[in-house]
Amino acid sequence: MDLTEDLPFQVLRRTWQPVALSRELGPAGVIGFRLLNTDIVVARFEDGSLLAADDVCPHKGARLSRGTILAGELQCPYHGWRFDPAGACTNIPSLLNPPSDKLELSHLNAYAVQERYGMVWVQLERNADVRLPDVPEFENPRWTYLLGPPTPFRSGWRREVENYLDMTHFAFAHGTTLGKAADSVVPPMKITVFDDGSGFQMDAPFPALESPHEQPGKLQSAHGRQQRCWLPNFTTIRQTFGDGDARVLVHVPTPVTREECVVFWSLALSPGFDGPAPEDQLEFAIRVLDEDRTMCENQVPREIPINPSKGGWGVLVTPGDTLANTFQKCLRKYLQAVQAGGESVKESRAAA
Ligand code: FES
Ligand SMILES: [Fe+2]
Repeated sequence: MDLTEDLPFQVLRRTWQPVALSRELGPAGVIGFRLLNTDIVVARFEDGSLLAADDVCPHKGARLSRGTILAGELQCPYHGWRFDPAGACTNIPSLLNPPSDKLELSHLNAYAVQERYGMVWVQLERNADVRLPDVPEFENPRWTYLLGPPTPFRSGWRREVENYLDMTHFAFAHGTTLGKAADSVVPPMKITVFDDGSGFQMDAPFPALESPHEQPGKLQSAHGRQQRCWLPNFTTIRQTFGDGDARVLVHVPTPVTREECVVFWSLALSPGFDGPAPEDQLEFAIRVLDEDRTMCENQVPREIPINPSKGGWGVLVTPGDTLANTFQKCLRKYLQAVQAGGESVKESRAAA
């Protein structure tokens, strides 16, 4: 059965998506973000409470993301209307005694918001059954945890997930980083699809990326590699090295429009990780991600069609594409399951 291109955008409204790093908001701050074609404002108040709401003032439509936090309230930059952490309008400065019905009408349209893993996450359609995946290494104080800079991609979010799962591009797309020594033939991998529909996992022993010209460093040495995807777009890579050290990376491409996403990502290193300094690993990962960005932004079309088609996904594949193809197949099942479950799927805003 063919799915509509709008369906993923509708379904993702019930999932948690990162929209900012916690440190960007500071102790009292305001930012704007476009999530699934919806402009939102995210505010942190002095007591630490958070508000996510439509980024539009109910008075004259000013962007609240240009506002300021004052004494526990968000103040609109235009005429100074004030809103509390629940989104209730508390003050209209041009009225001495604002009538309660006017204040009630001016309540902001607020969304679920939480902080975890050093990021701020928003859920546009409240659904208590949808939870963030647990990645214990990111909350273990003995591990070193680093956040990468959120990276905008001018490509659809599914392009980014597929790139992250792609096994045969290292030797080419990463010509100046990993590709110096990469082999274009990938080792056999074991793919497990979870029965509960939550996602899938790949396990493979990765050989050293080694050539006569390049000796592998720690990160390129032989290791066990596990890639996991929690549908729809939360992906991790777990590398386990011969000396017991481990490294976990997460990538979540937040959909902005159908053809743009922002990749939120981070890196965790096991205690006493014997290898390049954490900052150097982050810097290297930034370069690798930039090479991936260039590839994703120069693929046509900008987003992968949701239905398999000749010349698209599902037909022209090699064994190295199996994981990316597994993603597309599992995603379709996930979308169909939500649809069949009669979940309230709201219409998404105007398409990009
Ligand atoms: S537009 Fe926000 S107070 Fe007037
Ligand atoms: Fe890559």
